[in-house]
Amino acid sequence: MAHKTQRWTRKHLLGLEHLSADEIRIVLDTANSFKEVSTRSVKKVPALRGHVVVNVFFEDSTRTRTSFGLAAQRLSADVIDFSEKGSSVSKGETLIDTARNIEAMGIDIIVLRHPAAGAADLLSRSVKCSVVNAGDGAHEHPTQGLLDLYTIRERFGKIEGLKVAIVGDIVNSRVARSNLWGLTKLGAEVILVGPPTLLPRSFETMGARVVHNFEEVIGEVDVINMLRVQFERIKSSQFPSVREFTHLFGLTSERMQRCKKDVFVMHPGPMNRGIEISSQIADGPHSGILTQVTNGLAVRMAALYLVSHVSS
Ligand code: CP
Repeated sequence: MAHKTQRWTRKHLLGLEHLSADEIRIVLDTANSFKEVSTRSVKKVPALRGHVVVNVFFEDSTRTRTSFGLAAQRLSADVIDFSEKGSSVSKGETLIDTARNIEAMGIDIIVLRHPAAGAADLLSRSVKCSVVNAGDGAHEHPTQGLLDLYTIRERFGKIEGLKVAIVGDIVNSRVARSNLWGLTKLGAEVILVGPPTLLPRSFETMGARVVHNFEEVIGEVDVINMLRVQFERIKSSQFPSVREFTHLFGLTSERMQRCKKDVFVMHPGPMNRGIEISSQIADGPHSGILTQVTNGLAVRMAALYLVSHVSS
């Protein structure tokens, strides 16, 4: 499973910003070898037998939480689910104390989702076990970025040279940031599209082209990754009207007519149907949305496997 040019040496997976292109390829290639496991009648390999993985989620999740749990089970690890709700966090216990107490029970990997940017990095410096970032505020969501890269590579056979538009609520999006780091490292051109209130020019310093008019680029891109409008994080001044947002930035059937014939449509989920994407497009022939979810399982198996099999 090792990649030819570089070995995996990271105990933690915290983001794509600091991974090299080769390290990203190692994860994608490892995921490729794990994807086949889910097609077997007995969907299990013993790669993490005897290991314990704990999902520590301080924010709600459907896809990430379920697929990390399932990924750990397919690798034969024991899995524990920890939720903030019902825990001693309500009595004032800190994230670090919570994690250290869980670790004291003999944990090998903590998968952490937290509303604060930098929470996974902080945790990785406070515990002895591996930490995998399952989304930290608006900072990074590395396994979502990796599963998006995997899905694009599977669809086109390459990433280099593709033009990828990431559209909508960019400023609040950890998915946008992880995609941007990963896609640019692997040689894609990334075009960020959204209203100035949700897409500051400062994203240009991260290597993206910043565009405030969707029509300017809609006909030239190979991939359109629509982001969820994160109403829970948006200030009213950033988002005057849902109707105006959908009119200018929503992926509708009418707008799809101006796309390339083989354009690939993605969305990390959960979707606001009828706001950033119409149901016709989300469920239509160009959509890779459920394929992303399927691939997320293999990518998360790869992430758990790699952080617990670190080469020195
Ligand atoms: N894409 C994603 O992170 O979805 P969940 O919030 O449901 O995990």
